[in-house]
Amino acid sequence: MANSNRPSTTTAHIFRGTFIHATQQTAVQILEDALLGVDTEGKIAFIRKGEELDKVSQAFGFSPSKVTQLTQHEFFMPGMVDTHIHAPQYSYIGTALDMPLLEWLNTYTFPMESRFKDMDFARKVYNQVVRRTLRNGTTTACYFATIHTDASLLLGDIAHKFGQRALVGKVCMDINNFVKHYKESSQESHEETRRFIAELLEKKYPLVKPVVTPRFALSCTGALLGELGEIAKNNNLHIQSHISENVEEVKLVKDLFRDSKSYTEVYHKFNLLTDKTVMAHGCHLSDEELVLFRETGASLSHCPNSNISLCSGLLNVRNVLNLKVKLGLGTDVAGGYSASMLDAVRKAVETSKLLTIQDPKHDTLTFEEVFRLATLGGSQALSLDNQTGNFEVGKDFDALRVNVSIPDGPIDLVQPEEPKILLEKFLNMGDDRNIVEVYVAGKKVVPFTELTEE
Ligand code: GUN
Ligand code: FE
Repeated sequence: MANSNRPSTTTAHIFRGTFIHATQQTAVQILEDALLGVDTEGKIAFIRKGEELDKVSQAFGFSPSKVTQLTQHEFFMPGMVDTHIHAPQYSYIGTALDMPLLEWLNTYTFPMESRFKDMDFARKVYNQVVRRTLRNGTTTACYFATIHTDASLLLGDIAHKFGQRALVGKVCMDINNFVKHYKESSQESHEETRRFIAELLEKKYPLVKPVVTPRFALSCTGALLGELGEIAKNNNLHIQSHISENVEEVKLVKDLFRDSKSYTEVYHKFNLLTDKTVMAHGCHLSDEELVLFRETGASLSHCPNSNISLCSGLLNVRNVLNLKVKLGLGTDVAGGYSASMLDAVRKAVETSKLLTIQDPKHDTLTFEEVFRLATLGGSQALSLDNQTGNFEVGKDFDALRVNVSIPDGPIDLVQPEEPKILLEKFLNMGDDRNIVEVYVAGKKVVPFTELTEE
C-alpha cells in the first residue's frame, strides 16, 4: 500500500472500505478495508490499512467519527476517462448508423454540427452530454465540439459548471466538398483556434483545458495542419484528431498527401504527433506507423462501439500494447451509440473476442486489462496521469462510489461476493444506477446539486 507520512492540515473526506484501481504493474489492484483520505485541495492525502485508523487519524488530525464507511457491496474505483467523444453529436446519438464513415459524415454529421452556431441549441445539447457522461462515471472527457468558437467555449463553461475534468477542442476544417457551408477558411480556422485557446485559458478553469483539434487529414489542407502544429507547439497544448479509421479514408489520404508515405507521416510532418497527442481509431495502422506513435509519445483512443457501428474495422489492441503505444478507450459519440464508458469497456472486450474467433491464437484482452485501459490507460493517453487515473497519493481524487447491489438495479447478487467478482459484474452488467456518487478532484459532482440541476 502507498504510504505517506506527510500530514495534511485538514482532511476533507476519509473513506473506509474496498478500493479497486490499476497500477502500471497490476491491472486490478484490490485494497480491502483501506482508509483513503482526501485533502482540502481534492488530492489523495493517504491510503492506509483500516486497522491503522487510530495512528492515521492522529497523524492527519481528524476524528475517527469523520470516516465514511462503505457497505459490503460497495467499492471505490477511479473515474473513467473518455479519450474521444463528440459533444455535439449527442444530439443524434443512437440513430443514423446505416452508412460507412465518409457518407455518414456528409449525410448526418456535418449538417447537424452546423446547427451549433445557434447558442441555445448548443447549450441544451452540451448540458445534456456533460450530465449524461458524468453520471455514467466519465470524470475526464476529451471533447470535440464544432467549428463554432463561442459554442465551443460554452462547452468548456458547462463542463466547468458540472465539475467534469475536460479537454475541449474547437474543431478545425477548411475542406468540405459536400456540406459547403460547414467549413472555415484556413486563416479563419487558425485565428479562431488562437482566440478559442486564449479565451478558454483566460477563464482559469482548474479542470478544463483547450485541445488543438484538426478534424482529420481529409478535412484540412496542409497549410492548416501546419499552422495548428505550430500553435500546439508554441503553447505546449494537447492535440486530438482521427487517424486510419476506415479503409476508404486511408486510401484517400494516401492519394491526397502523395509526399507522405503513410497517414501517420502526414500528421508527423506537421508536428501534430507529440506526447500530448491523442488520435482516435487507428484500426488500419501498420506496425511501422505504430512505432512512430511510440517514438513520438502519441497515443491512440480505441473506440470499439463506433468501429463496429460504422463498420470501420477491428483494432487489434493486443498488438498496440505489445508495441508499447499508449492507449485509452473512447465512446466516439455518435459514431458510437453509447455515451457510457461501461459500454466502451464491454465493446473493447468483445472486439478482442471477435479477433480471437477469427484467429484462435489471438491473445484475448481480459476484463482486468480493459479496466486499466478505461482508467489509468486513458489518463496516460491524455498525458494527465500525473493528476488522475488511479488512487496514488498526490493525485486528484477522481472516483466512483459503486454499489453493485442497489434495489431494483441491474445486478442481482445471490450471495456475498469477493471484490474482484463485484468489479467484473459491475463492468459487464452495471449502469449509472450502480454509480451512487462521482467525485472529481475531491468534489462530489454526482448526485447533481441544485446548482447543476437544470
Ligand atoms: N472522422 C472525421 N470526423 C469524424 C467524426 O466526427 N466521427 C468519426 N467517428 N470519425 C471522424
Ligand atoms: Fe470521432
